[in-house]
Amino acid sequence: ASRKLLLLPGDGIGPEIATEAQKLITVLNEATEGGFEIESGLVGGAAYDDCGEAISDTTMELAQASDAVLFGSVGGPRWDGVPYEKRPEAGLLRLRKEMGLFANLRPAICYPALADASSLKRHIIEGLDILILRELTGGVYFGEPKEIVDLGNGQKRAVDTQVYETYEIERIARAAFELARTRRGKVTSMEKRNVMKTGVFWNEVVSRVHREEFSDLTLEHELADAGGMKLVREPKQFDVIVTDNLFGDMLSDIAAMLTGSLGMLPSASLGKPDDASGRRKALYEPVHGSAPDIAGQGIANPIAMIASLAMCLRYSFAMTREAEALEAAIADTLNDGIRTGDIMAEGCRKVGTSEMGDAVAER
Ligand code: NAI
Ligand code: MG
Repeated sequence: ASRKLLLLPGDGIGPEIATEAQKLITVLNEATEGGFEIESGLVGGAAYDDCGEAISDTTMELAQASDAVLFGSVGGPRWDGVPYEKRPEAGLLRLRKEMGLFANLRPAICYPALADASSLKRHIIEGLDILILRELTGGVYFGEPKEIVDLGNGQKRAVDTQVYETYEIERIARAAFELARTRRGKVTSMEKRNVMKTGVFWNEVVSRVHREEFSDLTLEHELADAGGMKLVREPKQFDVIVTDNLFGDMLSDIAAMLTGSLGMLPSASLGKPDDASGRRKALYEPVHGSAPDIAGQGIANPIAMIASLAMCLRYSFAMTREAEALEAAIADTLNDGIRTGDIMAEGCRKVGTSEMGDAVAER
């Protein structure tokens, strides 16, 4: 097989939804030339139980050698007591760091069929289709110094530092414009240039990349707080939103809630293209976590995981036709009234994880 995929199911509902993604890979292998070669590994609590680390060196090597990683979810109360650097999330952070995954793509898409899902009990935006691009390896989550200092007079000082360098903003800006070119051609950059030097600089670099390389596309700037307001008030005005690590973390979670269930949302994390092959390192995962409250019951919604596989086809393998077919199969399944509990609506048929996977595979 020419396409190497590493499947890391993880913890909680991770293995349940990973099984459904595998069904779709089987369908793809029957329908396409070349096919996928799948290897599996442990990550998170499952890896900790096995080898005392949230991801082993062997699994890291498999990840580096693969064309893409399909990741379930990690964590759960069982591992609350493990040392900080061995906690389940450390497995995901190591993958992001060592694979150099600097661009986090979070589409917020609302399937029209879900507009009637009474169980969602909140205002969702029918037909919404925006993409939030979050810088993932820089900014205030990683900048030095990062410390809590004892000042010796009964006071302490906590410090986090926001740092961005030219190349970090250039590469995320380029990714944003390239993505916008395949969509509606509009990028909105969000920062806080009114109060932050990194905001002034972010704005300057994004504007220059636009002027020099992508002037045929539309670029708008918003202050991140006002942008957040507009995102809730009138989200359809946006196409691609590009922003830093901290604002992206918050804005993408807010956008997620405009679409309904967490069980529907995929994501991709991309690295820079390899000089020789032109291929990017990449990891695809649902936005949701390991859902310990429903794990083991066979009721988790596998659509976020299956939609993550669709993103993998699109961004790692340029299989646009297959990605669209997979997304259409998801939409058809919903249109036919087949629903897991989290997206259940009146008059629909309630199914479990496996039946939902079968329904998408069939379509
Ligand atoms: P969560 O996303 O796991 O669950 C939040 C709520 O949404 C729960 O009620 C859950 O049942 C529901 N839910 C999530 N995914 C669903 C699906 N596919 N189908 C149906 N319902 C679904 O977030 P929570 O509860 O805050 O965290 C649980 C664990 O997951 C924690 O250990 C957390 O650290 C971890 N986590 C891991 C992530 C990752 O692996 N990337 C991301 C977020 C949290
Ligand atoms: Mg978050």
